[in-house]
Amino acid sequence: MTYPIRPIAESEWPAFAGVLSEGFNWTPHPRQTERWKAQTEFDRTLAVFDGDTMVASTSVHSFTMTVPGGRLPVAGVTAVAVLSSHRRRGILSSLMRRQLADVRERGEPVAALYASEAPIYGRFGYGRAAGQMSFTIARHGAAFVPGAPVDASLRLRVVKPAEVRGEYERLFGSVAGSRPGLYDRNAAFWDAILADEEFDQNGAGPLRSLLAEDDDGVRGYALFRIKSGWDGDGMPDGEVRLQELFAADPAAYALLWRGVLDRDLVTRIVAHARPVDDPLFALMANPRQLRPSWSDELWVRLVEVDRALESRAYAAPVDLVLEVADEVCPWNAGRRRLRADTAGAECKRVDEEPDVTLDVAALGSAYLGDGDLGALHAAGMLGERTPGAVRALATAMAWQPKPFAGLVF
Ligand SMILES: CC(C)(COP(=O)(O)OP(=O)(O)OC[C@H]1O[C@@H](n2cnc3c(N)ncnc32)[C@H](O)[C@@H]1OP(=O)(O)O)[C@@H](O)C(=O)NCCC(=O)NCCS
Repeated sequence: MTYPIRPIAESEWPAFAGVLSEGFNWTPHPRQTERWKAQTEFDRTLAVFDGDTMVASTSVHSFTMTVPGGRLPVAGVTAVAVLSSHRRRGILSSLMRRQLADVRERGEPVAALYASEAPIYGRFGYGRAAGQMSFTIARHGAAFVPGAPVDASLRLRVVKPAEVRGEYERLFGSVAGSRPGLYDRNAAFWDAILADEEFDQNGAGPLRSLLAEDDDGVRGYALFRIKSGWDGDGMPDGEVRLQELFAADPAAYALLWRGVLDRDLVTRIVAHARPVDDPLFALMANPRQLRPSWSDELWVRLVEVDRALESRAYAAPVDLVLEVADEVCPWNAGRRRLRADTAGAECKRVDEEPDVTLDVAALGSAYLGDGDLGALHAAGMLGERTPGAVRALATAMAWQPKPFAGLVF
């Protein structure tokens, strides 16, 4: 049975929000729902109907995202849910196909998403493109290595987040191009980042912040909450929950982390979303103290393979014929020669024998520079017809720094 799919009108928002909260087993506060609504581009929503009942949802944010060597329009896929009464009837599959066709028509060569569960999106051509680290750091003994950068002109300032929003926006805007995966945040996103009602706090008190600045202005910021507490022996047992920390240079970065790590009356610093190559690994005298745990972050789908491959920079010269399999977006299937170097790339359809055969999801996983292709080859998930070709492709597509979006959408 097929069910009709269409974008919703703004007046249908309550039903759309209802599908989302039901699908995610979540009961948002009405004002959280209002924030969602403010972030929603109604012409990019899609809903599925069974008769008059809305039974599934998805939507897209029109992002500008950093990719290796540049910035690109990227479809930020979000709000995917199917009511439990209608699950496993192929509804998500039909939504994904329709959405990818819409994204293509819109001219965005790449789609990206956060997955609630990792097994869902590979079948639709999304590859695991970025990871994130979660740190739980014991405060005591969290020393830096000798030689960690210090800049005497820098100082920390305690601020109220709502009063310095413009500083966050400026600083983030200045660093967003420095790491693949970071995407521009519009006003509705900043409203959500700085939201600070009781239901936003999860028992950890108001949003707090430190700025790192010198006489010329702000060079970085940290946003966090503190769950304060005392143990049964009367010892302080507070927990810093870091929301985000961005800095324009290493000295500001180090100073902000010191500001977070040295907080009095705190025993733990918990940071759930950090890049896999967080410079903090290099700053810590004892990096084991970060107790890092890994999870997947962004999943990336090349909607127009040739245009996507031509739209990024490459870390090393490469000249290879790639044969791409793509069941969901058949316009991508076939052979192309990728000729690229650090200055630019050209991707042209050819009939020649391929050097590498791979699924579009494999290319998506490597697109932002996390360089998973060697592991996929070792796992038997892509084919190498010319010895050394996978290594050459993986080397060219790898990037520093590693990708990281830093904010769930
Ligand atoms: C995930 C979800 C959207 C799937 O919707 P659905 O309509 O049941 O999916 P489909 O029927 O189109 O399934 C397509 C395929 O994906 C598989 N699949 C779907 N959800 C899966 C999951 N959570 N884990 C593993 N496989 C999954 C199905 O088994 C099916 O496989 P098949 O083609 O081999 O038979 C739905 O279960 C849901 O709303 N979950 C809760 C909210 C959520 O996690 N949303 C995703 C946010 S990123």
